[in-house]
Amino acid sequence: MTDHPGNKAYSGYYNRPAPAEPQPLTETGPGTPGGEYLRRFWHPFLMSEELGDTPKLVRLLGEDLVLFRDGSGRLGLLHRPCVHRGTSLEYGIPAERGIRCCYHGWLFDVDGTILETPAEPASSRIHVNFCQGAYPVREYHGLIFAYMGPPELTPEFPLYDCFTYPSNNRLVPFSLSMPCNWVQIVENASDPIHNVFLHVIVSGAQFAPHFAVPPALEFVDTPLGFLCSAVRRVKDSVFIRAGEIIMPNVAQFIGGGAMRDEDELAVAGFLTRWATPLDDENSLYIGYIHFNDINGQTANCDEGKVGLGRLNLIGQTADRPYVERQREPGDYDAVGSQGAIANRKTEHLGTTDRGVVLFRRLLMRGIKAIADGETPALPRIYPAGPVRSYAHTMTMRAPAGATLGQGETKLLGEFGRRVAKIVVETDTLPPEERERVARQRVRELLDTTGEKATTGEVAAAPA
Ligand code: FES
Ligand SMILES: [Fe+2]
Repeated sequence: MTDHPGNKAYSGYYNRPAPAEPQPLTETGPGTPGGEYLRRFWHPFLMSEELGDTPKLVRLLGEDLVLFRDGSGRLGLLHRPCVHRGTSLEYGIPAERGIRCCYHGWLFDVDGTILETPAEPASSRIHVNFCQGAYPVREYHGLIFAYMGPPELTPEFPLYDCFTYPSNNRLVPFSLSMPCNWVQIVENASDPIHNVFLHVIVSGAQFAPHFAVPPALEFVDTPLGFLCSAVRRVKDSVFIRAGEIIMPNVAQFIGGGAMRDEDELAVAGFLTRWATPLDDENSLYIGYIHFNDINGQTANCDEGKVGLGRLNLIGQTADRPYVERQREPGDYDAVGSQGAIANRKTEHLGTTDRGVVLFRRLLMRGIKAIADGETPALPRIYPAGPVRSYAHTMTMRAPAGATLGQGETKLLGEFGRRVAKIVVETDTLPPEERERVARQRVRELLDTTGEKATTGEVAAAPA
């Protein structure tokens, strides 16, 4: 601590938070470096059930757009102002093919092509000279996605392996509003240590009681982002929960509460969600809950708790009474109260913020790649199947006292890092075989670690 008066007790006068400044990493609008990067990916922005038979005004990446479904069932996402004289297409009339502007009847196809300009003379060529701005749209399991980048660079639509594994997996869509920049939402997912405090010590066991055990944290690269691995010794088991960040704005989690009595290693989904920017200060927390036997969300769970403005996890919305949210705050309160755009100039990062730092580094790298004319890492559909994902949970029996005790943070961390690498290395295998092979390798690794540790041969892993 220096002699600066701002570093002493009662320093409020000297140490007022500086006002937030624009930051490239939080920009979402067209023409900004951050916005251009985000425009290279598909983003979900609406639940299918939110679209009725009239056009829907939406905001996405700082642009005002109109979504509609035409008479033949196709979706169109067009710039809001009609290219003729600017009337909003939210007042347009969906036609059998496309949408007709209410003001002078111009008819636009879902791709923005002008099909008719009825008030113009028959000889008019005006309709072939330009188009209404439009973006491609995809609908998947109750969510509607858009791609807003250069059409010649449209990436494949990302179908992740965990969407269809296990075979009885059911994706139930949801969408929640967050009054803040999208980066804060991803940072929250990159920060496993908050599970200990926000979700157990402060607010009671919101998700799982063993989250109270402070974990060893490791962050491991994947082809599209990184894993946030939290490793705990819980009674007679070593327990790992590794959430996944897929750049730029996807997070996947598995399990979280379920600790089994037998050895388990599962690579599957519990929650897949996008932090979709509506603009710089508003986002959607939108995605799927996976209902399957692996993650404990079985067919008997209540799907009715998942949907528009609803999620079967406490603390994700503003719905609870304010005083209750003060006494038992959740993610919505912690993340939203950082401000519409968190002021990163006034932060003081600690060692447990490594995931946040890693995410920002990857984000800035992606933004720079686009600015330099390069292609960012994009989800790729593998020849043998869908996009690979890596979120995993592991429970391995390991008698307490043998090794990897709760105090052996470095050993626990190194074990978690090696488990994560095994999950990455086995990604070419079909899901079931991948889990079986990975489980076997991890069991062997744990047994070997145990032998070496008891004979004093395992050096502490580098921090
Ligand atoms: S403003 Fe849309 S047709 Fe004239
Ligand atoms: Fe959380």
